[in-house]
Amino acid sequence: MDHFALRDGVLHAEDVPLPRIAEEVGTPVYVYSRATLERHARVFAEGLADVPDKLIAFAVKSNPNLAVLKVLQRAGFGADVVSGGEMRRALAAGMAPEAIVFSGVGKTMHELSEALDAGIGQFNIESREEGRELAELAAARGQSAPACLRINPDVDAKTHEKISTGKAENKFGIPLIHARDVFAELAGLEGLDLRGVAVHIGSQLLDLEPLETAFGKVGELVADLREAGHTITHVDLGGGLGVPYKAGENPPSPAEYGAMVARVTKDWGVHLTFEPGRVIAGNAGVLLTRVVRVKRGGNGPPFVIVDAAMNDLARPALYGAWHDFEAVEPSGERLTANIVGPICETGDTFARDRECDALKSGDLAVFRTAGAYGATMASSYNSRGFVAEVLVDGDKYAVVADRIDAGAIMDAERVPEWLA
Ligand code: LLP
Repeated sequence: MDHFALRDGVLHAEDVPLPRIAEEVGTPVYVYSRATLERHARVFAEGLADVPDKLIAFAVKSNPNLAVLKVLQRAGFGADVVSGGEMRRALAAGMAPEAIVFSGVGKTMHELSEALDAGIGQFNIESREEGRELAELAAARGQSAPACLRINPDVDAKTHEKISTGKAENKFGIPLIHARDVFAELAGLEGLDLRGVAVHIGSQLLDLEPLETAFGKVGELVADLREAGHTITHVDLGGGLGVPYKAGENPPSPAEYGAMVARVTKDWGVHLTFEPGRVIAGNAGVLLTRVVRVKRGGNGPPFVIVDAAMNDLARPALYGAWHDFEAVEPSGERLTANIVGPICETGDTFARDRECDALKSGDLAVFRTAGAYGATMASSYNSRGFVAEVLVDGDKYAVVADRIDAGAIMDAERVPEWLA
C-alpha cells in the first residue's frame, strides 16, 4: 500500500497535489512519500516480529537519498552499503557505525580502511583474497574486523538474469563446496573476527521458494561449521523481496517472508541481519514527468514523448522492466501508445503498446514504483543533467536533492591549455 492516490481527479502524494510540485520544482522530478517509507519499514519489521535478535539494514543502493536514509534511520534501520560513498551517506544520515554492513565483491583497500576507521558493524567478505587483505589491514592497525563470509548457494532466484546473484556462475560469494575451507583459513587470521555467514541470491523475488532453499543451505553450513569447532553467532540473509510493478503481480508479503524466516532459522541461535531495499522504497516513489508532445503518423501506435528519459529511470531500458504509467489528471479517455523519452536511441522506450490515458502535450504523468533503483541509477547521458528529488510529508514537501543541470556537469570539465 502506498500514499499516492487520486483525490478529486488529481493524483496526490499524501496531501500534496502533484501538479503543485511540477509547477514549483519542475519536471522530471522524483517524488517520495515519507508515510509510505515509514509504513513499509514498519510492515517489514512487524513481519520479522518472531525473529528476536536482528538488524534491518536498508540496502542504500536502492535509494541513497539522505532524506530517505534519515526517515529509515528514525525507523530504527541500519544500512547495507556497497561503496565508500554509500557508507558516508549512511553515517551522514545518522546511522550508527555498528548498524552498517559492507557488502560487495570489489571493495578497494581504500574503502576497507575507511570502513575500519568508521568502525562499521560487519564486513561481508566475498572472496578468500578479500578476507586476507582485510585481515592484514585490520591487524596492522591492531583491529579485529567483524565479518561474515558470503556464500554462493547456487540457487536460481527465478528473477531477471541481470539481478540474479546466487547462481554458481555469478560473481558473488564463495561456492558452497569451498566455504568450509575458506572459513577455516580466514577464521584463523589475526585481524578478522569471522563470526558467521551471509547470503543474497537476487532481487525482485516473487516466490519464497528459492529463498527458503538458499536459507536451508545456509543452515546446513552453519551446523557444519559449528561441528568443525567454529563459533557462529551471526547470519546475514540479504534482501530480495519483490514488489508488485503491475496488476496481477503478487509478491510474498513481509509477513509471509517473516514467517518462513522464523520457521527456517528457529534453531540457529544467531543474530540475523536483513538487507531489504526495493520492498521498502519501491512503491514509496514516483517519477513525475510532463508530456512534451504526442507524435502520430508512424506505422504503429502514437508516441507519447515525455520529458523523462532512460537516463532518469533506466530500468525499462536495462531490464525491460514494467512501470505503471498514469496520468496525474486522468480524463477517462484511453489510448494505446508507445511511451518514450527524448534520448536519441530506441532503447529510450518506457513502454510499448501501452494502454494509458489519452495524454496530450503539457499533461503530467507518473511512472509508478520508481522509489527504488530510480534516481540512484540515473546518468547524464545526452547531457541531460540529474533530476530533482522531493520528499512529501503530509501536506508539506521539501526538495531533498537539487536538480543538477547540464551546465553544472560541464563546469567540472575543462579543455587543457595545450589543446585550447
Ligand atoms: N543485499 C545485497 C548484497 C544486494 O546485492 C542487494 C541488491 C540487496 C541487498 C537489496 O536487494 P532488494 O531488497 O532491493 O531486492 N538495479 C536492479 C536491482 C539490483 C539489485 C542489486 N542488489 C533493478 O533495478 O531491478
